[in-house]
Amino acid sequence: MQVLQHRWLNDLQSTEWPGERPPWNPQYADGFEMPPDGEHILNGIVENGAVRGWMNPEVHENLVRVSKLGNICLELGSWLGWSARTMLDSNPALHVICADMYRPLDDPTDEERPYHPLNQLDLFMHRNWDYRYRITILQGHTLTAISEVVRCEIEPDLIYVDSGHHWHICGPEIASCCFLWPRTHIFGDDYPIAGVSKAVGVAVSTFSRPGRRTGRFWELPPKE
Ligand SMILES: C[S@@+](CC[C@H](N)C(=O)[O-])C[C@H]1O[C@@H](n2cnc3c(N)ncnc32)[C@H](O)[C@@H]1O
Repeated sequence: MQVLQHRWLNDLQSTEWPGERPPWNPQYADGFEMPPDGEHILNGIVENGAVRGWMNPEVHENLVRVSKLGNICLELGSWLGWSARTMLDSNPALHVICADMYRPLDDPTDEERPYHPLNQLDLFMHRNWDYRYRITILQGHTLTAISEVVRCEIEPDLIYVDSGHHWHICGPEIASCCFLWPRTHIFGDDYPIAGVSKAVGVAVSTFSRPGRRTGRFWELPPKE
């Protein structure tokens, strides 16, 4: 497995991976299982009371494509690591900085996301253990993660925006990323959600980025 040695990655105030894989806890519901490598399950967050996947085909296909455009990706919103894994599998040279609260948000607008009552960070580490040399975990607010990446003078090649889908979360995320990193390829999920489409539209008009959309997937490539 190739490990990207980026001279600044070690400076990030990140959460250490433990010496041993956090054990599988039998109380984790089956619904928190990932699909096998290379597969994705279509549509539907909750089906028969269990998590059955959330990545639809165009998002999957586009993640596979754009993940090959760089070697460092900042992911805003990783949840259980499925999208990160999709990108890591697609590009063996990729390192992903996975920023997430890794705990339930005290946010009534966070829809029906079925957080597990057990430790979500342990679950993330358990599920993504084989990828640990290529994942840096930043636990906390996404805007804090962005400022931490700036502090360490890292210029991500790629940024996947998939945390909160309300304007007050993704608006500042996308605008800050466009402002800070004009050469970075920025992309995300859930374009039809009003907060996301507004945030993308504002970025297109404010930063003159060429916006593109394929179904739920959107991207803001750097200007030529
Ligand atoms: C849609 S899920 C991410 C799904 C993941 N990208 C995937 O496709 O596998 C959104 C995640 O963002 C996190 N999140 C939402 N708002 C956040 C914020 N402001 N700061 C940090 N994490 C946030 C949630 O806790 C949740 O884990």
